[in-house]
Amino acid sequence: MRGKRILLGITGGIAAYKIAFLIRLLKKNGADVKCIMTPASTEFISPLVVSTLSNNPVGIEFWNKKDGTWNNHVEYGLWADLFIIAPLTANTLSKMVQGSCDSLLLATYLSMKTKTIVAPAMDLDMYIHPSTKRNLAQIEKDGVEIIPAEIGELASGLTGEGRMAEPETIFSAIEAIVGASNNDFLGKKVVITAGPTYEALDPVRFIGNHSSGKMGFKIAQDFLNRGAKVILVTGPTNLSLEDDNLSLIKIKSAEDMLSEVQNCWKNCDFGIFAAAVADYRPKNQAIEKIKKKTDELTIELVKNPDILNWAGSVKTENQCLVGFALETQNLLENGAKKLEAKNLNFIVMNSLKDNGAGFGVDTNKITILDNRNNLQSFELKSKEAVAKDIIDYLKTYIG
Ligand code: C5P
Repeated sequence: MRGKRILLGITGGIAAYKIAFLIRLLKKNGADVKCIMTPASTEFISPLVVSTLSNNPVGIEFWNKKDGTWNNHVEYGLWADLFIIAPLTANTLSKMVQGSCDSLLLATYLSMKTKTIVAPAMDLDMYIHPSTKRNLAQIEKDGVEIIPAEIGELASGLTGEGRMAEPETIFSAIEAIVGASNNDFLGKKVVITAGPTYEALDPVRFIGNHSSGKMGFKIAQDFLNRGAKVILVTGPTNLSLEDDNLSLIKIKSAEDMLSEVQNCWKNCDFGIFAAAVADYRPKNQAIEKIKKKTDELTIELVKNPDILNWAGSVKTENQCLVGFALETQNLLENGAKKLEAKNLNFIVMNSLKDNGAGFGVDTNKITILDNRNNLQSFELKSKEAVAKDIIDYLKTYIG
């Protein structure tokens, strides 16, 4: 974090009082911090506190009435290594979607040259309102990263989802982005599988699953941040990623995924297999669309190749292979079996029974078991922070 320039945007929610702790954490870890506040947020935390802790003047309006100078939003955009908006209110969120710029904070958001991350905070009904969900999905599409709100007591007295992530969680998410770019995987090559596979029944239908691909994409991003060359073989997802060091290969079926992995695995140092590969595929693929005729239709399925198993069977001593196990029961027992059967170096396990873990969500709760019999459990974290934990584990593992 030393020397990293963190621009912190504060909007008007009660959680703003917690931002003092975030500024302290950032400063203690050596970051340079500048803050922009919306006028409403100054009702919740004093600009004097923010300015004293960050050791910098605070930008609130476009111009400073006292001395006639103006706060240049373009310069803020150029200065920052990362823009974090915390807390993010429903109001500022909706304006980010629209591209409005009626505050210094919003004008700066539109001028950012680097990544923006946000930590939403609102009451539970506001947080689950369809418009909030839609707006969060839209800014995520626009490239903003979201640190999901947590479940807990809210200022309204209600209990539910909407509470801003704790300052420590926000700090880890910031660290995962700016602190990780230390090139500790420079010169290394990694193949990552991600997303679901689609197994065609006919030209229009398929068998698939709910995997969003988020975990695999976050792992790819973290490896790229750390200097590695990445081959990301992904099933159909809504996600995108671009980087000079990334080769993004889009496939549909398990058989396609296998052949892409077979093309590159022997030249890779690491394999991280996060895809939710369909275990079975239809035995026959109809050339024309299957017509609706009988009351019942039986589809015969055949087993798909196990891609991870193949990679484990040809793995050399210099390669490190990591698999995932998403289970609904006997997590440790099933994970341990897979670790051995597929000849893995370690396995990342998560249970669909844990709140906030698994498909589609932005968080995950993992436990890692390695082939040296070490077991480590992690807290519920954003998938970004989880990706960093997995790669940090790999780094320690290879020594
Ligand atoms: O055996 P199971 O499907 O639970 O194993 C999960 C792990 O194996 C994941 O890492 C997944 O990406 C990988 N896998 C695979 N090919 C398959 C099935 C699973 O690579 N056909």
